[in-house]
Amino acid sequence: MASIRRTLSPYQDRSHQNGGSSSPFSLNSPSHKHSRFDLGVPRFIHRKVGPYRTWMRSVYSCMLFFMIGFLLGLAPFGEFEDVRSRDFSFPPTLDVKEDIVVDKVELTVENTKDYFARKQLIVITPTYNRPLQAFYLNRLGQVLRLVPPPLVWIVVEMNVASTETADILRGMGIMYRHLVCANNLTNIKDRGVHQRNRALEHIEHHKLDGLVYFADDDNVYSLQLFESIREISRFGTWPVAMLAQSKNKATLEGPVCNGSQVIGWHTNEKSKRLRRFHVDMSGYAFNSTILWDPKRWEKPTSGLIRQLDTIKEGFQETTFIQQLVEDESQMEPTPLGCSKIMNWHLHLEALELGYPKGWLLQKNLDAE
Ligand code: UGA
Ligand code: MN
Repeated sequence: MASIRRTLSPYQDRSHQNGGSSSPFSLNSPSHKHSRFDLGVPRFIHRKVGPYRTWMRSVYSCMLFFMIGFLLGLAPFGEFEDVRSRDFSFPPTLDVKEDIVVDKVELTVENTKDYFARKQLIVITPTYNRPLQAFYLNRLGQVLRLVPPPLVWIVVEMNVASTETADILRGMGIMYRHLVCANNLTNIKDRGVHQRNRALEHIEHHKLDGLVYFADDDNVYSLQLFESIREISRFGTWPVAMLAQSKNKATLEGPVCNGSQVIGWHTNEKSKRLRRFHVDMSGYAFNSTILWDPKRWEKPTSGLIRQLDTIKEGFQETTFIQQLVEDESQMEPTPLGCSKIMNWHLHLEALELGYPKGWLLQKNLDAE
């Protein structure tokens, strides 16, 4: 604002300075050289063109007044509102009727047909390094991947966790535990026993809750098998298709059922006829809580439930099952009537298969 006033008052000042009463706008005024209205117009214009100078001064005057008007327009002329005079207090509390503003909120889970809790499956697989190991693990893993969760695959190796097995498990896309069994006794024929026991220890230690199933890596399994296992309460069993020693005959091993009762057993080999229960390792499943909460099940024996490494070949399954149930009355035909074949225990691999080191081909195959 101050600068604007000063621009408007050169008239008086100039007249005193220059000692005359002539107007600074006058062409004759000696002050015209210092006039602010000149605004730096080149002097040769003033000297050489008289009418032109007059016209230019008018233009500059118009421009100056325009600028003054413009700047005044920008200045806030109105009275400033005193902020202190404003009332910043909160408005009086609103009288709100609660039942209008907030409706009662109820958090309930609707019972839809799509939702139901599935039992966890705990699948135990002992495995070891041999020609078809990658093929077996991939085949079994792909089946388990198709089983609706929750499912945990406990894969147990002897001494070390191999990178090949770890890679397969990592890429499978299912929940798994890769365990190592340190109890490497070379004189034991059935080395899978210690690996399975390592998995049982793990289940007990972590109190894993679910249905335990021993799935050897080389067997063939259907999806229906895993669905049926989920129906088991304590101990379920079913018949398994096998190949006879001679491999020229398919046989069955497992329960004969009448609805919900086990009434007998399919058996083929005379050497095994003294077994109490004729069940294959892949022909039964049981509730994991029997392992770590035995009071709940009144189990027949006290102490840890384990597979035994001193047992005669072919008797491993029956001695283990005898620790889980007292007799057939505590067994559940799976599914009811147990008339379906849901998995196969075969030995189809060729003998003398070469084992590629590390599963990597060092050179490209020459296809020409
Ligand atoms: C025979 C019996 O028929 C089964 O009841 C018994 O569970 C099994 O032996 C066993 O030894 O555990 P078989 O098919 O001849 O079955 O045995 P394999 O297929 O050679 O092995 C069974 C499982 O144990 C497989 O998952 C295999 O990978 C694993 N295994 C076997 C090891 O992890 N390490 C070994 O040294 C041998
Ligand atoms: Mn096998």
